[in-house]
Amino acid sequence: MTKLSTKHLLGIKDLTADDIQLILNTAESFKEVINRPIKKVPSLRDITIANLFFENSTRTKLSFELAEKRLSADVVNFASASSSVKKGETLIDTVNNILAMKVDMVVMRHPNPGAAVFLSKHIDAKIVNAGDGAHEHPTQALLDAFSIKEKLGSIKGKKIVIVGDVLHSRVALSNIFCLQKLGAEVMVCGPTTLMPKYISSLGVKVEHNLRKALEWCDVANMLRIQLERQDIKFFPSLREYTMLYGLNKSMLDSLSKKIVIMHPGPINRGVEITSDVADSDQSIILDQVENGVAVRMAVLFLLAGRA
Ligand code: CP
Repeated sequence: MTKLSTKHLLGIKDLTADDIQLILNTAESFKEVINRPIKKVPSLRDITIANLFFENSTRTKLSFELAEKRLSADVVNFASASSSVKKGETLIDTVNNILAMKVDMVVMRHPNPGAAVFLSKHIDAKIVNAGDGAHEHPTQALLDAFSIKEKLGSIKGKKIVIVGDVLHSRVALSNIFCLQKLGAEVMVCGPTTLMPKYISSLGVKVEHNLRKALEWCDVANMLRIQLERQDIKFFPSLREYTMLYGLNKSMLDSLSKKIVIMHPGPINRGVEITSDVADSDQSIILDQVENGVAVRMAVLFLLAGRA
């Protein structure tokens, strides 16, 4: 199989296991490319990509831009804060004006869940969802899967716990879909108030005791507490959250086996994870960031139909 079954990358839910394997295999080749002295290939020459960021980003925005440039695409960047969105222009008008300048692909981050799906119904260009509200963040899940496979050799049968603010996390939802399609067992762990009511219907285990969750897993993916999405209090204080669900070095060292630690970033150091855990030899947080470029190159290359 050399082609994806979808025209866009809107969410992991739409991908087959074969699509995901194809992206991960293609990313392996691109990881080799980005570690060469000359990191650039001509694969997307003549393709123009617009990166539309209606919400803040460090990793995803830079990673897509680097992936595009490594593939020799032409790149334009748009940040809503300095755009005519501020003058009342709609999403569709904004994107259609950008497309009128002959853009082939759109990478979009937006605070509203479903924004990428909405756009795909109204415009012709290929769309990559770079995170839509608390819905999906497909390339994060793909780079997480790539990083687990790289570290542990395989994903099938591995036990992965996602810890923390699952309720507000697009990373959690995309990871659950992705890891299950690849045959992993997935658990979520956190306070009841930070678990969506529908969580059990996704076929994941639910655990409220962090130590039990960590003893069960091979990999712990520690989520950021998303205070910017919390308009009411979901737990009494950050201090109490950290006491119950923060991972520190003494807990990590007391576990009966060595587990792998992941975090999608940005990290609230000292809240969901302490610095000595984030920077420990069990952490693959910076590998995740490195792998993000290779995985995004694979996604763009496959969607462009250059395989
Ligand atoms: N992981 C992630 O999406 O980070 P950014 O918000 O910095 O892009």
